[in-house]
Amino acid sequence: MAFDAFVVLSIGGAALLGWIAVKLARWLWLYVWLPHRLSGTRLVERYGSGGWALITGASDGLGKAFALELARLGFNLILVSRTQSKLDRLRDDLQGLGIQVRTVAADLSDTAPHTYESLAAAARDVDLSVLVNCVGATVHRRYGDVPVDTLRQLLAVNVSTTAIVTHTLLPLLLRHATSTGRRAALLNVGSIVGRFYWPGTQLYGACKAFVDHLSIPLSFEYRHQLDVLSFQPTVMATAMATGAEPAVITIPPQRAAHAALSQLGHTQASHGHWRHGLLAALLAVLPSRVRNALFLKGALAMGEVELAKCESGHVTHA
Ligand SMILES: NC(=O)c1ccc[n+]([C@@H]2O[C@H](COP(=O)([O-])OP(=O)(O)OC[C@H]3O[C@@H](n4cnc5c(N)ncnc54)[C@H](OP(=O)(O)O)[C@@H]3O)[C@@H](O)[C@H]2O)c1
Repeated sequence: MAFDAFVVLSIGGAALLGWIAVKLARWLWLYVWLPHRLSGTRLVERYGSGGWALITGASDGLGKAFALELARLGFNLILVSRTQSKLDRLRDDLQGLGIQVRTVAADLSDTAPHTYESLAAAARDVDLSVLVNCVGATVHRRYGDVPVDTLRQLLAVNVSTTAIVTHTLLPLLLRHATSTGRRAALLNVGSIVGRFYWPGTQLYGACKAFVDHLSIPLSFEYRHQLDVLSFQPTVMATAMATGAEPAVITIPPQRAAHAALSQLGHTQASHGHWRHGLLAALLAVLPSRVRNALFLKGALAMGEVELAKCESGHVTHA
């Protein structure tokens, strides 16, 4: 009897150790090996040379980092954001890389058909192989304190626009796959906030959970033509960050973009940079009550900074 129990425990222990080893190996492969090994040729071979990438929210922060990285790899670009002067500046910066750049100045919180039509019009006559839905907006506050206009704006930018831009441009991505025999790519930017319930930024979290729940099913529906990545970073040093976030988890957007592109086509969801992957793993094992208390405290502190920025006219999102 004692011997049987010993055998069962040994087999169970070995299986558990094996499972942990596999998880750890996968984590190291995704967060350390792939970003270290990314070369331009992999993405060009996978999606074709001379292809085009459309990036929303492209003139600043993470979107700009994606633009610079994809341009460096030789992709032609369609850059979308509200401010034409910022788009022009980025296009000038990209001159010399030998790529073509188109710009679309559009307010993606305006969910009227003409907004999405302007993106389709810019992409219709090119070979669109990569779509990066990067635009996003956040607010940190208790739900009742979020002004209703902000609520509408967040839903429009994060939810409606991600869904409709994807729906509008999906036929062009599939056209690329059919006409070239290669794959196309859809990279949707969510947030770690969409992976947990996040008091203090509940609406943003719900929007980003939407992005995740939209993206992963598409990776199965179109698995023969499309690589889909639901990208869920943590804090990056961009205008969206308040500066109240811990420095240890704040990374430059360039590193986040590089990591995400290295993982595209290898996995359906990731946090990008290893520091963000590690943070997500740690948060997952925290008891939910502790996690929620930490999140709320941090979010309200960020909300204070956002309000101060708003009052001084430095923020457009909140
Ligand atoms: N920063 C972070 O810590 C963090 C963490 C997790 C996830 N994310 C996600 O990462 C993505 C990028 O964030 P970010 O930090 O790079 O933001 P960011 O630095 O504030 O840049 C936002 C970009 O989007 C454009 N934009 C903003 N509102 C727009 C609108 N209504 N229509 C069209 N373009 C608009 C901005 O240009 P214009 O102002 O000229 O329009 C800018 O190019 C978002 O989806 C965000 O949720 C960010």
